[in-house]
Amino acid sequence: PRVVVLISGSGSNLQALIDAAHNGSLLAEISLVVSNRSNAFGLERAKKASIPSKVLALKSYTNAGKTREQYDIDLAQLILEAQPVLVVMAGFMHIVSSAFLDRFPTIPLINLHPALPGQFDGARAIERAFEAYQRGEIKHTGVMVHRVIREVDGGEPLLVQEVEIKPEDDLAALKERIHSVEHVLIVKATALVLEQEAAKPKTKSV
Ligand code: GRF
Repeated sequence: PRVVVLISGSGSNLQALIDAAHNGSLLAEISLVVSNRSNAFGLERAKKASIPSKVLALKSYTNAGKTREQYDIDLAQLILEAQPVLVVMAGFMHIVSSAFLDRFPTIPLINLHPALPGQFDGARAIERAFEAYQRGEIKHTGVMVHRVIREVDGGEPLLVQEVEIKPEDDLAALKERIHSVEHVLIVKATALVLEQEAAKPKTKSV
């Protein structure tokens, strides 16, 4: 089954998906990678894996006087053309609007977020967890993959994994521990949703 992956940065989670698809532990074909940033290293990873990629930069829309809604509509069209069974946001730093979500009434969208449900929604989640730990407010943090809905990082969690924070950690050590959990969780969540989709009765195209 075809999977489209959305990225913005290094694409280490994309790489985890590529590796799993290549070594057969994930029965999926990553048919398209879309980035909202032209400098995302993840685009290099896609190229090396011979996966088609597209860049849709919001800045080019705002510079051309086009709306954010138009961006979301075009992004949705780009993805739909690839006819995915599943859309995975892996380090995708763009908040999709209802103009985008409305175009995916049946295709599942999932997002990786480096925090526990309801904690540190939005950007800089790892940094904010680290600061909260230093203030003694939390003992550990975590990673989750959730379904994408209108509320940012608010969708039903599919998989959640706690991640310990050690007293001797600096931010880099915590990030490294979190990213290694992400790389496992993103593959597991993708496999889980693909299994759920495969189990659904096929709607006959009338
Ligand atoms: C990850 O923590 C991801 O959850 C966040 O961006 C970080 C880097 O992801 N949104 P990647 O290396 O680009 O996959």
